[in-house]
Amino acid sequence: MTSSRVLTAVAWPYANGPRHIGHVSGFGVPADVYSRYMRMSGHDVLMVSGTDEHGTPISVQAENEGVPVRELADKYNRVIVEDLQGLGLSYDLFTRTTTLNHYRVTQQMFLSLHRNGYVVAKAARGAISPSTGRTLPDRYIEGTCPICGYTGARGDQCDNCGNQLDPIDLIDPRSRINGETPEFVETEHFFLDLPALAESLSEWLKTREDWRPNVIKFSQHLIDDLKPRAITRDLDWGVPVPLEGWRDEPMKRLYVWFDAVIGYLSASVEWAARIGDPEAWKKWWQDPETVASYFMGKDNIVFHSVIWPGILLGHNGQGDRGGEPGAFGILELPTEVVSSEYLTMSGSKFSSSRGHVIYVGDFLREFGPDTLRYFIAVAGPENQDTDFTWEEFVRRNNTELAAQWGNLVNRAVSMAHKNVGAVPAPGELADVDRRILDASKAAFDTVGKALSHSHFKQGISEVMRIVGLANQYLSETEPWKLKDDPARRDTILWTVLQVVSDCNVMFTPFMPHASQKIFEMLGGEGVWAALPEIRTVSEEGGPDYPVLMGDYASAQAVWASQPLAAGIPLTKPEPLFTKLDDKLGETGPDWAPILHD
Ligand code: MF3
Ligand code: ZN
Repeated sequence: MTSSRVLTAVAWPYANGPRHIGHVSGFGVPADVYSRYMRMSGHDVLMVSGTDEHGTPISVQAENEGVPVRELADKYNRVIVEDLQGLGLSYDLFTRTTTLNHYRVTQQMFLSLHRNGYVVAKAARGAISPSTGRTLPDRYIEGTCPICGYTGARGDQCDNCGNQLDPIDLIDPRSRINGETPEFVETEHFFLDLPALAESLSEWLKTREDWRPNVIKFSQHLIDDLKPRAITRDLDWGVPVPLEGWRDEPMKRLYVWFDAVIGYLSASVEWAARIGDPEAWKKWWQDPETVASYFMGKDNIVFHSVIWPGILLGHNGQGDRGGEPGAFGILELPTEVVSSEYLTMSGSKFSSSRGHVIYVGDFLREFGPDTLRYFIAVAGPENQDTDFTWEEFVRRNNTELAAQWGNLVNRAVSMAHKNVGAVPAPGELADVDRRILDASKAAFDTVGKALSHSHFKQGISEVMRIVGLANQYLSETEPWKLKDDPARRDTILWTVLQVVSDCNVMFTPFMPHASQKIFEMLGGEGVWAALPEIRTVSEEGGPDYPVLMGDYASAQAVWASQPLAAGIPLTKPEPLFTKLDDKLGETGPDWAPILHD
């Protein structure tokens, strides 16, 4: 696949609390590894996301904390921005859904869909609490799933079978707040006419043969039975419906999922404005050659493989009702929908409410970003639910990162530094030298292919295999015993340094911070792997807010072996990765201790 443009669309975290490592392992880190690889291999990448700040998840948490909802969103937006920056996620723009720009883009999308006839107002039945008379948000209604019979299904979705639900479909519905049975009253809502889009969706899905099988089967199955889907809610927190009679209605807002997915587009529009080229977003949205890759956890698949493509088709006027391209021209649908499974802890889904939680911020403060990024890439929930244990984290850190990779870099650079003081000049290469050099050159291809298909484990394991070969090469050739044959010794040291450099290039998407250091150790100057910056911005006299942006295109990192020139001075290396105390594996850190029942 050789397209020059890549849109990396990363799921938007709710701004209702600090993010835990389960969140970033599902989409943030994989999307960043992918984007960094794509940039290194010559693509023009636009990576966007932001905090998802509307809807019940936010208003309920504001109520819990006793603060106004906007204040809550401001607080966690900032925490999340700082955490993602600390992790080194290279967003071209990480913004938020409470911007004027996002409101505008969301309302324009809505109006385009409305004009084409794909959103229609209908009488519906909404849940209220009989004791308070207040609207009961979907997520706060629980009952039995009408499809699979799971008894803990929520009003918006069943976590067991993954189907979307409406609260009225639940068998034995009850309020999660006080257990009472909700009352359903007549109210008017807008619906996205998914049945009118089903045919086009299905045709499009047929062209997505290379998606992960779980995503494609799941989506096809959903399309067989699509119903109109409510896209407004009885709520006061969200984007107003931009129509006469609705605009000023205090208790009708667009549904959070409707506005959140539109965030991919609005963030691209905001990015273009911020770089001073307001039309620039179009290259990533209107060109069929652009590869648009969406990253998310598995509970978000339906929104990205059915609802968002449906919204796009309706906006484009490409469903059964026809229509005209809307406010944004003809917008392209997702090329890839990459979903991950869950990172669990002691077998249950990471969840702040159950106390099984390891916050990104705490983790970064104690262990730094690259250990976590490494762990997620090599042992994360790429293909199946995966249990996080401190023991496994310590083991991988100690036996792989520190003992294999850190040790190789350290041995190679210190021997060359001690004996030569610089990158030595190689003499004639022996077979054994050529073999390891060839293996590491060949890996650029295999690892690159794996990463372009979001096979992160496979990619990083291949780099680690080369690291293993290089360590073995040193044990076999024993350059430390060659005092009497400095020419041969220098050839070996040059060879291993070249392999270190190659592996460092290939590790760059996974561990940008360490890669920058190793790049410098080997005599590189300037920025190799760029990191995101927090910038303070505002719009049209509105309040300041923090965004992540970065100058990634000017970084030097490229996906190719960097020939090491002899004579580059080397300094004594600092250790890169520290071994962790095995006790940590038994107890956990004090901010997330392992609880024994
Ligand atoms: N906030 C949602 C969640 O955490 C994800 C939104 S992704 C988007 O589950 F596509 F809607 F932006
Ligand atoms: Zn179910």
